[in-house]
Amino acid sequence: MLWFTGLSGAGKSTLTEALAPRLRELGLRVEVLDGDAVRTHLSAGLGFSREDRDTNILRIGYVANLLARNGVAVITAAISPYRDTRDANRRLVEGDGSAFIEAYAAATVEECEARDVKGLYAEARAGKRPGFTGVDDPYEPPLKPEIVLQTGSEDIETSVRKVLDYLASRGLVPSPAAAGGQR
Ligand code: ADX
Repeated sequence: MLWFTGLSGAGKSTLTEALAPRLRELGLRVEVLDGDAVRTHLSAGLGFSREDRDTNILRIGYVANLLARNGVAVITAAISPYRDTRDANRRLVEGDGSAFIEAYAAATVEECEARDVKGLYAEARAGKRPGFTGVDDPYEPPLKPEIVLQTGSEDIETSVRKVLDYLASRGLVPSPAAAGGQR
């Protein structure tokens, strides 16, 4: 399980979309649980209080774990702002014998806000979206993530490469050399 965490607009979904086909090419069965999609289905009706965010994140962890323990590579892309809640998912997944790889999309608030792809930071600053992560709601960065991606400055391919190299170093995907020596 590859668990992305980071601010809104840090690039979690973009990276997920770039990675999923690459992992499929390497022969993995891949499923994606993206925060925005989950909130329209599995977590419809939940808001952004701490309690609702925790419910959302624990649901994603629960479903992701069911998939992972059946041999599916799962990529999740939710802010998952609270360290305790991410760690609870880690315990669940590792306890069931799967790898839990926390990948921190480390773009700063300033970097995310400068892009503001969905215009949500502007709304938050204008007081129209109270409790927005990184503006007036907390984000707790991981203390020991397996992977750190400088998604505010490095390009997508660089981040994708870092993830693939890390997975190869753990033996979770074939190494580039074993896969035919590309790159
Ligand atoms: S989480 O906190 O529960 O992990 P999740 O990743 O599912 O969040 O949803 C975050 C997305 O919801 C953001 O990318 C943004 O599009 C939207 N959103 C709406 N309101 C908020 C808010 N108050 N804080 C953060 N994101 C919000």
